Amino acid sequence: MGITDDGFLLHLYYGPKTGCDMDYSLTMYDRGFSGNPYDVGNDRTFSLDVLPMEYPGYGNGDYRSPAFSMRDSSGVQGADLRYRSHRFLPGKYGIDGMPAVYAAEDEARTLEIVLADETAGVQVTLKYGIIPSRDAVTRAAVIENISDSTITVDKALSASLDSLSGNWDIIHFDGRHGMERLPQRDAVRRGKISIGSRRGTSSHQHNPFIVLASEETGEDYGSCTGLMLAYSGNFKAEAERDQYGLTRTGIGFQDEMFDYPLAPGEKLETPEAIMIHSDEGLSDLSQKYHALISEHIVRGPWQHKRRPVLINNWEATYFDFTGDKIVSIAEQAAQLGVEMIVLDDGWFGARNTENAGLGDWTVNEEKLGGPLSSVVNRIKDLGMQFGLWIEPEMVNEDSDLYREHPDWAYTVPGKKPVRGRNQLVLDFSRDEVVDAIFEQISAVIASADISYIKMDMNRSIMDVFSRTDKVQHYGKTMHAYVKGVYRFIEMLRQRFPELLIEGCSGGGGRFDAGMLYYTPQIWCSDNTDAIDRIQIQRGTSFGYPIQTIGSHVSQVPNEQTGRIVDFATRGIVAQAGTFGYELDLNLISDEEKEEVKKQIADYKKYWPLIANGSYYRLHSPEKDTETASWCFAAEDKSEALMSAVTLDNHCNNPVSYVRCRGLDPAKMYHVEPVLGADTQPLELSGQALMTVGLPVPIIPGEYKAWQWHVTSKDTDNLNNKEN
Ligand code: GLA
Repeated sequence: MGITDDGFLLHLYYGPKTGCDMDYSLTMYDRGFSGNPYDVGNDRTFSLDVLPMEYPGYGNGDYRSPAFSMRDSSGVQGADLRYRSHRFLPGKYGIDGMPAVYAAEDEARTLEIVLADETAGVQVTLKYGIIPSRDAVTRAAVIENISDSTITVDKALSASLDSLSGNWDIIHFDGRHGMERLPQRDAVRRGKISIGSRRGTSSHQHNPFIVLASEETGEDYGSCTGLMLAYSGNFKAEAERDQYGLTRTGIGFQDEMFDYPLAPGEKLETPEAIMIHSDEGLSDLSQKYHALISEHIVRGPWQHKRRPVLINNWEATYFDFTGDKIVSIAEQAAQLGVEMIVLDDGWFGARNTENAGLGDWTVNEEKLGGPLSSVVNRIKDLGMQFGLWIEPEMVNEDSDLYREHPDWAYTVPGKKPVRGRNQLVLDFSRDEVVDAIFEQISAVIASADISYIKMDMNRSIMDVFSRTDKVQHYGKTMHAYVKGVYRFIEMLRQRFPELLIEGCSGGGGRFDAGMLYYTPQIWCSDNTDAIDRIQIQRGTSFGYPIQTIGSHVSQVPNEQTGRIVDFATRGIVAQAGTFGYELDLNLISDEEKEEVKKQIADYKKYWPLIANGSYYRLHSPEKDTETASWCFAAEDKSEALMSAVTLDNHCNNPVSYVRCRGLDPAKMYHVEPVLGADTQPLELSGQALMTVGLPVPIIPGEYKAWQWHVTSKDTDNLNNKEN
């Protein structure tokens, strides 16, 4: 970046090190209708409407999409932010009550740049966290009212990035409930692409992560930059190509309905944006995000530990269970090697349907046949751990909590609220509401030996009305809500430090780096169909590490799609995640029971590779429609685990070749089939495995699974071979 004589903070360049000053790239021409700051006198060639800006604001002649805009108390729009000071600090800054990348003091540096407009009454401190070993730069902005009357922040992005030259695509991850994070790639043309959420959560529909990729960028080549927001509420990400071809990209708070008032002296801190660049394509970019999130976002004792293989009763029983039923599911599961049972929705209050009970976090002892501890002790006697489902942010109108505290739910006086799954949302912007729910839930957790919590959130938010505020400010309340959710989970973490917490929002409706700061894994999707999951998990892998992706083997025909898929196929898809089961194992065949044992053994065996290896997407859904494939490769290129699933089966099919990645082309490898018919061990070079690949046998039937474990024969180096 550069500071002009008049204090404008320009953006010069972001990307691989160029080794030279980049201010040569700025050009000055007299551009009609692009105004000039007063300070530059009669120079009509200097305009902030055409120059690249570091944190563009509306009010100084830049008419492009701003990162920041505000109104003063009399309604005057705009601020003219100028450089005031800057400083470097050791280590990485944190954000109070919010998720943020953390790093050791010698791993990171912080840069703070202070901009201000005293007339508008605002000071903006730009924060940068620089983590050189991860190629990562984090960004956030602190906006402070330095006037003596209230100002209103209309828009506050966390990061803005101007790219002077080049043709760029934007890759975003969109979807719907049950089909989340499907990559969508659009060229950035004149005009603006904008995605985001107004649902109160980061949402199933769009993910707070975008990639700006040069148009030729693919999985293993090309320049790409990710902008990821560590935030779980309303957000916006946008990309605009201006009149002269500059591309402006940004991510931060959703500005629609934002309208955030700041009293004199009050500050607003934006969530953190995490920017990572790669010049080696999308796989490398994803691997850098995986490493950053695993090492600098995920916290706590579970950060690097293999998670217990679990069985969840939701799809096996829904609300229809008893304590004995849960124990019978656990008994069979324990015999096959499952390590934990998770009791899902329906164990509390009058929760026997979706329509009642949320908000009443007292154990339904009648249904369980005794206190929770009696069931948990029976589970423990089987040598298993016990987990429990909660949905703290919600309330049913048919609940004691709502009857007692109707004012705790978001409803607008005089208006019938919009229901979602027949439930209302509690006002988590209020501390007393969060504290009361926490007291209830923590008492239950303390009452038995509970190892795991699945924390759900099953509707989008509407009718936001916080009864403590005389005047309603939607943006402020929604931000306080998200901070309330973070505070709730942080309290759980502090009170029960060993607890493994899984995030969830109707599956993957809140799958973001903000949540991963509090919960080391997130249920990826309510869709457990293995074939759909291949797409969902592939899309999720662009930004998020595999060991954070909740994934289970469920029954067939699949509950969501009706599709019938082999047990083995369901197994290798779930293996690319936290791994578990979501069915009653009493109801499967003896052969399948043997498969469960093998799946669990394989998962444990390959866990180090799955958790620490580099993950590669090997197929493109658009081009490789017949076979899906992916692999995990060890960092030292000594081994890889390749997985493939045949998708469409046609008469007289061509042969699919699965090409591995992440191997040493010059090394010889032993290829051992782990799964799949008609495959034999082979001795092949890394070069052959990566350029030609392994042929997938053609056999009758759809959705078949193959897996190969590739290990290097270190002594057998290709250089010593003649062929
Ligand atoms: C959500 C979750 C499911 C299950 C149900 C229970 O939909 O994503 O896994 O827990 O709630 O009501």
